[in-house]
Amino acid sequence: MKKSTLPAALIFFALLVISCKDKNATVLKDVFADDFLIGTAVNTQQILGSDKEAKPFIIKQFNAITPENAMKWERIHPIPGTYDFALADSIVSFAIANGLFITGHTLVWHSQTPDWVFQDSLGNPLTREALLERMKDHIFTVMMHYKGRVQSWDVVNEAIGDDGQIRRSKWHEIIGEDFIEKAFEFAHEADPDAELYYNDYNNEEPLKRAGVINIVRNLREKGLRVDGVGIQGHWHLDSPDFKIVDESISEYASLGVKVMITEMEINVVPTPSWLYGADISKMAEYKDSLNPYVSGLPDSVQTMLTNRYAKLFGVLLKHKGIVSRVTFWGLHDGYSWKNNWPIPGRTNYPLLFDRNYQPKPAYYAVIEEARKMK
Ligand code: G3I
Repeated sequence: MKKSTLPAALIFFALLVISCKDKNATVLKDVFADDFLIGTAVNTQQILGSDKEAKPFIIKQFNAITPENAMKWERIHPIPGTYDFALADSIVSFAIANGLFITGHTLVWHSQTPDWVFQDSLGNPLTREALLERMKDHIFTVMMHYKGRVQSWDVVNEAIGDDGQIRRSKWHEIIGEDFIEKAFEFAHEADPDAELYYNDYNNEEPLKRAGVINIVRNLREKGLRVDGVGIQGHWHLDSPDFKIVDESISEYASLGVKVMITEMEINVVPTPSWLYGADISKMAEYKDSLNPYVSGLPDSVQTMLTNRYAKLFGVLLKHKGIVSRVTFWGLHDGYSWKNNWPIPGRTNYPLLFDRNYQPKPAYYAVIEEARKMK
């Protein structure tokens, strides 16, 4: 009798362990393990400790991170010749200690780049040669500091306008169109092992997509390394039609590059469509009527958000293996930049976790999409 109850007890115990394991497997990084990396943007509070829940939560749910602001030029290189790596170093150490894939964000951008970058010591505009030298010094200093530790970089960010043409930025004005080539050339020289990406918003829209395709083709024709295109994914309940995301993934992939959704969220508060995208030089004034969900998200809107995320993940999962990473732009709703842009001081609900780190219905819906595809 004793002999036969022992195996039965063991089997029961094993089943219990398996079922617990299954439950534990309902974290994003495990659910999508065979599909793509799942990332989050991270910030100071999460990494330097005022939010004690953040780090364990990041490790539990995600396997990739992007510093939301810490590696931007104005933060990491605020004054000429002076680099401040402190916060970015903490993020990188945390990521390495926990096996998270890191994307450095970002090396060359028109925004969050101090005015001095484009000026000489007298405040006059730099020459092309001097600005190229400054760009090279920045890229080399930052990338060599993280060589062997940061696997991938958003080398150039948002260089194309909504019209598909190169954006009229200081980089473009002083250096010319080849500033993009130069950035990729310097980045590859600085760390030949790093993956190099072009990252933009609205680049699922056909006109802008065509401009980004030109950039990738041109880099390839010149024999320069470019590994991927980031579609930021600052999206809304009513826009874009995910058909164009689907098409964009296929079109970018046909160039032979990886495709990533790099800064994803779905805005749920009323927003004029001229403020869709992520042009942070544009903003509108606060009005109570534009901030309707201060005390909670109505069920009807929660349902729209859930359905929208489910549809989106249906598209992303269709392209698993081509989409290499999906990164949410914020850890939970309370951290989203969408609470403060394009209208400051609103209460938005664009992510999968609420302000108390609780999964929202959209979380379960995207997991369900993954299950349906298996
Ligand atoms: O840290 C300061 C704080 O000390 C100060 O009290 C406060 C007052 O304004 O500002 C805080 O800094 C803000 C920072 O976010 C951290 O919250 C900056 O003003 C604000 O400009 C900054 O916004 C960031 C924005 O890029 C501009 O750099 C957002 O967090 C960040 O999510 C957003 O990310 C960009 C991507 O890099 C590129 N794609 C578009 C995306 C959204 O704009």
